[in-house]
Amino acid sequence: MDDTKLLIIGAYGQLGKALQAQYPDALAVDSDKLDITSPEAVNNFDWSNITHILNAAAYTNVDGAETNEALCMKINVAGVANLSEIASKKDLTLVHISSDYVFDGTRDNHTEDEEFSPLSVYGRSKAGGDTETTKTPKHYVLRTSWVIGDGHNFVRIMMGLADKDVSPTVVSDQVGRLTFTSELVRAIDHLLTKSAPFGTYNVSNSGKPASWADITREIFKLLGRDDLTVTDTTTLEYYAGKENIAPRPLQSALNLDKIRATGFEPRDWQENLKEYIEKEQAK
Ligand SMILES: NC(=O)c1ccc[n+]([C@@H]2O[C@H](COP(=O)([O-])OP(=O)(O)OC[C@H]3O[C@@H](n4cnc5c(N)ncnc54)[C@H](OP(=O)(O)O)[C@@H]3O)[C@@H](O)[C@H]2O)c1
Repeated sequence: MDDTKLLIIGAYGQLGKALQAQYPDALAVDSDKLDITSPEAVNNFDWSNITHILNAAAYTNVDGAETNEALCMKINVAGVANLSEIASKKDLTLVHISSDYVFDGTRDNHTEDEEFSPLSVYGRSKAGGDTETTKTPKHYVLRTSWVIGDGHNFVRIMMGLADKDVSPTVVSDQVGRLTFTSELVRAIDHLLTKSAPFGTYNVSNSGKPASWADITREIFKLLGRDDLTVTDTTTLEYYAGKENIAPRPLQSALNLDKIRATGFEPRDWQENLKEYIEKEQAK
């Protein structure tokens, strides 16, 4: 993979940072240098040395989207449409990241060909972005769930609670698998270097799907904090009385057969979590 021909967009986000670590010689920009919602900015960008767009940019505030629909759609749909159009015009490969939120979570194992059934504004916007991406022939849509990297994320929040000796109440009826950005980057690199067929691929860590409450128990165990307890609650109870909360899919586990068939074996989420926590503690 020739790093110098890659453009990373959304470079300061969780995935963007991991992509920069993997591809240090790639051109990396965030909204300050390239606002994907501006067709002029995208058109006038210097594409002369670029062969691949790695789009890690997105509006990712799931609850915020409920009251900021226009902005969410502008970034996650119109912005992606701008990238898809330029990819077609310049014959570039577009790598884009989708979400389990494009589904309503009634199936316990989501395959790539499941029809969209989003519950929230964010979910609708991600489905729209997928549709725009697939309009350019050379595309990879990586559909992922519960992303953990260098940024604001669930594992860091729970580590922070443990630091403060808090025994939290955590939702136990949403089930899925964590996806460490290192795995997403490894999957992107795999698809590109193997020249896998273009299309949509589910990517998460592997292992037994678990609830947020169970993941919290695992985090506390790995931290050696067996003194802390985790009390189960339902999504309905947890958000009762709170306003502008986006509905969440209850079943988020993604079927990983398709990417496995290309020769990629996702790492178990528990093994990856252990490594992540050790690195966080060493900081
Ligand atoms: N986080 C999850 O649990 C999760 C789950 C499933 C799928 N995903 C998907 O995974 C991808 C990466 O997520 P992440 O957690 O790494 O996101 P993130 O940390 O929120 O980063 C998103 C980045 O996009 C940038 N951005 C926003 N608007 C932009 C614009 N108009 N032009 C250019 N850049 C813009 C942001 O920059 P500014 O701060 O400057 O706006 C930010 O650096 C996204 O597509 C997300 O939808 C995430």
